[in-house]
Amino acid sequence: MIVLGIETSCDETASAVVRDGYDVLSNVVFSQSHLHAPFGGVVPEIASRAHLETLPRVIETALLESNLKWNQLDAIAVTYGPGLASSLLVGISSAKALTLRLEIPLILVNHLEAHIYSAFLGKNAPRPEEVIPFVALVVSGGHTCLIKVTSIGKYELLGQTTDDAAGEAFDKAANVLGLGYPGGPALERASAGGDPSYVQFPRGNYRELNPRLKGLKPELCFSFSGVKTALIYYLKRNPIPSEKQASSKIIASISASYQEAIVDAIVEKCRKAIDKMKCLVAGGGVILNSRLREKLTHLAKEKNIRLLLAEPSYCADNAAMVAGIAYQQNNITGKRAFAIDAHPNLRVGENPD
Ligand code: KG4
Ligand code: ZN
Repeated sequence: MIVLGIETSCDETASAVVRDGYDVLSNVVFSQSHLHAPFGGVVPEIASRAHLETLPRVIETALLESNLKWNQLDAIAVTYGPGLASSLLVGISSAKALTLRLEIPLILVNHLEAHIYSAFLGKNAPRPEEVIPFVALVVSGGHTCLIKVTSIGKYELLGQTTDDAAGEAFDKAANVLGLGYPGGPALERASAGGDPSYVQFPRGNYRELNPRLKGLKPELCFSFSGVKTALIYYLKRNPIPSEKQASSKIIASISASYQEAIVDAIVEKCRKAIDKMKCLVAGGGVILNSRLREKLTHLAKEKNIRLLLAEPSYCADNAAMVAGIAYQQNNITGKRAFAIDAHPNLRVGENPD
């Protein structure tokens, strides 16, 4: 089964062609980050306009790079939530139009579930059946959550952030430190050679659980707004010297300490969530962080569990994960898919009517 995937939930315009749920024939991502950089964050209006302008070319390129023709596609898959409403709409409308023209099925995909599935992409990745049940960690710019997966299609949310997402915490800190946008990779680069024990930032603990998160285990929920505030106060008390050499050394150590606090918070929640499970699966843009990959690998060794980290090219937003998960049985398809529109607040495992 050959699926063309479309992803436009945030600020990446992406399309990919995937065979049988794992064999990635093409994976095209147009990042809009240069358009949003002057504003220090994603501007929804700019994002949807850029999707509109670039998506047709991105789709054509994905097909061209797969060396296939339109009539060889078996289905079109698209992210329908969660994400920015105006951005999601561009992908959904294009996918609906394409499926009507090609007379092939439309498959709607949940972005969070696709991030989980990203660890199963590529010829060397195991099949989900080999590692189910597992705990999934999704850490990105918009989401930070732990999910118990008993089959692809059966998800139980164990914990999530009570405020900022981990990627957001990286982005905000990079902004405060003047490191640029997107902040995660900038802060990771700045932390090279820095001392991670230079500042003791809080490890993502919160005082009380938001009533909105009723039913979740507090010990599996995250909080990252405190670490960002701690950084701001730290910098007020300890301004960075203006002398260039001294300042870059200090920025490296502050960045390394900040990164360590976020990574430790994520790893500790994973340790608690694993419980009796035998496998931890991780996806999302923050999984690109080498310190996080290193510490998760260490945790897996210590706990004697299997660790599946999404390959770097499938961590951040992409359409291969959308086309990949569409191969599985439990997605929304048929006439029902046509009746459904963008779901900006879609939850993992949610099945809208
Ligand atoms: O998965 P993604 O592309 O988009 C969302 O679904 O949100 O993740 C983007 C996030 C951004 O916040 C970015 O700063 C973060 O992933 N990120 C990183 C790294 N690379 C990207 N965070 C930490 N270290 C990195 N190397
Ligand atoms: Zn994402």
